[in-house]
Amino acid sequence: ITGPVHGRGTLNFDAVPVGRADTIVVPDGYRAEAAFAWGEPLRAPFPAYLDGGLNSAFDQRRQVGQHHDGVHYFPLGFGTQGSSHGLLVMNHEYIDPQTLHPDGPTTGADGRRPLEEIDKEIAAHGVSVIEIARRGRQWSIVRGAWNRRITGATPMRLSGPVRGHALARTRYSPDGTRTRGTLNNCASGMSPWGTYLTCEENWAGYFVNRDAAIPREHARYGIGAGSRYGWESRRRRFDASTRADDAAGDFRNNPNTYGWVVEIDPADPRAMPVKRTALGRFGHEGIVFGKPRLGRPLAFYMGDDATGEYIYKFVTRDRYIPGLARGEMLDHGTLYAARFDDDGRGEWLALDIHDPAFRAAADAAGVHFADQADVLVNTRLAADVAGATPMDRPEWGAVDPRSGEVYFTLTNNGARAPGDTDEANPRGPNPYGHIITFREDGGRNEATRFEWDLFLLAGPPADSVAPDGGSLDADNILASPDGLWFDGNGLLWIQTDMSGSQLAQGPFGNNQMLVADPRTRVLKRFLVGPVGCEVTGVTGTPDGRTLFVNIQHPGENGGSDWPDGNGARPRSATVVVTREDGGVIGL
Ligand code: FEO
Ligand code: CA
Ligand code: CA
Ligand code: CA
Repeated sequence: ITGPVHGRGTLNFDAVPVGRADTIVVPDGYRAEAAFAWGEPLRAPFPAYLDGGLNSAFDQRRQVGQHHDGVHYFPLGFGTQGSSHGLLVMNHEYIDPQTLHPDGPTTGADGRRPLEEIDKEIAAHGVSVIEIARRGRQWSIVRGAWNRRITGATPMRLSGPVRGHALARTRYSPDGTRTRGTLNNCASGMSPWGTYLTCEENWAGYFVNRDAAIPREHARYGIGAGSRYGWESRRRRFDASTRADDAAGDFRNNPNTYGWVVEIDPADPRAMPVKRTALGRFGHEGIVFGKPRLGRPLAFYMGDDATGEYIYKFVTRDRYIPGLARGEMLDHGTLYAARFDDDGRGEWLALDIHDPAFRAAADAAGVHFADQADVLVNTRLAADVAGATPMDRPEWGAVDPRSGEVYFTLTNNGARAPGDTDEANPRGPNPYGHIITFREDGGRNEATRFEWDLFLLAGPPADSVAPDGGSLDADNILASPDGLWFDGNGLLWIQTDMSGSQLAQGPFGNNQMLVADPRTRVLKRFLVGPVGCEVTGVTGTPDGRTLFVNIQHPGENGGSDWPDGNGARPRSATVVVTREDGGVIGL
């Protein structure tokens, strides 16, 4: 970790004002260029992107996916080389069928969607591994062997307690050890051993279950009679209903193989992705690890982004030794859910069938879990039973590389009743969201108690609290904080995901990215995105001189042709940010 490289402290730029232009705005002295957009060719035969939704499913499997989200830069090489050549690994959370197909989504006379459309949609989901290199200021895609697309159909391995369990057995994998695809990959993180961790968020909406009685492992996650894109009309695995023609096995358990954190090794293009079930099954937003300490357990923090859901921590059984640590560390350990008490203290509640307090709580609630795999498949229910604190939609977490303090965005909760607030979720309703911080007792990853505080309450000046205790002002008003990332200099980058009337009519303009210095408590707006986009996902080169920022669904409701212009269809893309003088971003 490096300190500021010159004597002027941090955030030496003029804040960008709120705005509604269909472009990227960054401070004077900075430059922003779009790259790595949806449809850019990655794999042979490198099918070129065609405007108008004209690429096929075959093409899409070889091109960058849609709806860019969580992203991480893995350097290839050390020093200067590692900051000029690397693998950019990113999520493609979901799709917009309107822009994906020539005439939007279609449905046949029989009520089924065309297979080609469904397969293109499945291929536009997942993860892209993109080899990129810099020449001068220009970053571009290298057409090499590292490039990879992982989609909603890529074979994956299950590991951890749910591997081989009765609840994971499907016609595709009768022994419950595999599944196909990863879906709705929202935020992401990395492991201390250099792999990419991608998180499955709103996966439940891809499945239907039309049975009269829906099992708890589907019902608690919102699986019902309808699906988001109707894939079940052609692809049987998205229908979890009981069917009479299922003598050869069925897909009733297929949804149980989603809702996990998936580990991808970007350095091995042939390695099968692994769903790490010990980390729990919920609407995973993202994952971030606590400061690693030699010879001590690791901690991974995760949010479940739905109204009234929880913040989680996974503590490894095994101790951290650099060079020896690997993915299997994520298969053994204890999953906890957070309880935030009104006195500023908090407790991690073990969701562990062998934990006496958890067993007693389950018994008292009249809830039976057969084994730890059953607990994990039903993580939300387990956290209900344990008495975790319902939060205002936990999104990304970030860990201060200096202090080890953990930050979480709580994006908003319009449904919280005025009489149902607590000190950690103090506004009812809470349309603007807030950011919470906590510090483990003794700075230990394995601590079961912590201290928490609020970093800011988002909103307009009259209804906000800034990091310095005053009100937010023209330089930093924001709403619906979502993306969160600490850079190597200890600056905290905050991204917004406003939608609906808050985005269209609020005082906040288009979605944006701000940056805070937690030591000086200064917060400034750094970037404003194009019309209708969400700003989500940020990473950088080790030298701090290039920042990669993802722009998701520009023109979601029309009004944008970003980044191509000239009336072309809008495309999710990465924005490459540099300083005119080549200096470190944010200082
Ligand atoms: Fe996919 Fe919670 O944002
Ligand atoms: Ca998000
Ligand atoms: Ca969000
Ligand atoms: Ca979005």
